[in-house]
Amino acid sequence: MDNAFQEEVTADCRKWAADVGAIGNRQNRFAYFQDELPALLSKRALFEGLLKGIIDGNPYPDVRQETFFDNEFILYRDPARLFSLRLYIFGAGERTCVHDHTSWGVSGSAFGKLEVVRYRHEDDGLDPDRAQLARLGNVVLWPGETEKTLPLDQGIHCTGNPAEGTTLMVSVYGTPLRRLYIQRFDLENGSVHRVFPARLRKKMLAEQALKAIARTR
Ligand SMILES: [Fe+2]
Repeated sequence: MDNAFQEEVTADCRKWAADVGAIGNRQNRFAYFQDELPALLSKRALFEGLLKGIIDGNPYPDVRQETFFDNEFILYRDPARLFSLRLYIFGAGERTCVHDHTSWGVSGSAFGKLEVVRYRHEDDGLDPDRAQLARLGNVVLWPGETEKTLPLDQGIHCTGNPAEGTTLMVSVYGTPLRRLYIQRFDLENGSVHRVFPARLRKKMLAEQALKAIARTR
């Protein structure tokens, strides 16, 4: 293993995998991670070590790993896809776009205030390209506090740093559903954008291009 910080994260995650593997029900898995995540969030030396590793170009965390968000770092992926552990760094006032997820999640702050703003569909949700969303409300989490996210329409939100300085958000996501993309919602014009993983998107573009060329024969 590359370094002591990776070993520490991996040791925690392997223990979680063993425990969670024995829990059949999703609610109980949620509850397990809500209980477990605060201890990880309190490990300030670990997060400082991970940040130094990113700056120094260490192999862990691997900044070349493909992620949906450009402030996202994958800390662990369970080989049986039970869960993944991710770190997000938000600068002052930075927030994600409004988006959904393909799995349940538990998120918390390891440093700084973390704001979660929730939305729900005002329409019937049937048009894949359009969405009228209503703001349900927000919570601001202090370091060590956590919040749950549900998959698809039940978990539309944006997360970020409502304050000065930096926020470190740490999230555990469960096994993804079959849908291969997340959705990004534009509140201004009501449009919905499907965001595929870059590798898949490139494959889809190549297929499209090949078909277009074939049609010209
Ligand atoms: Fe999210």
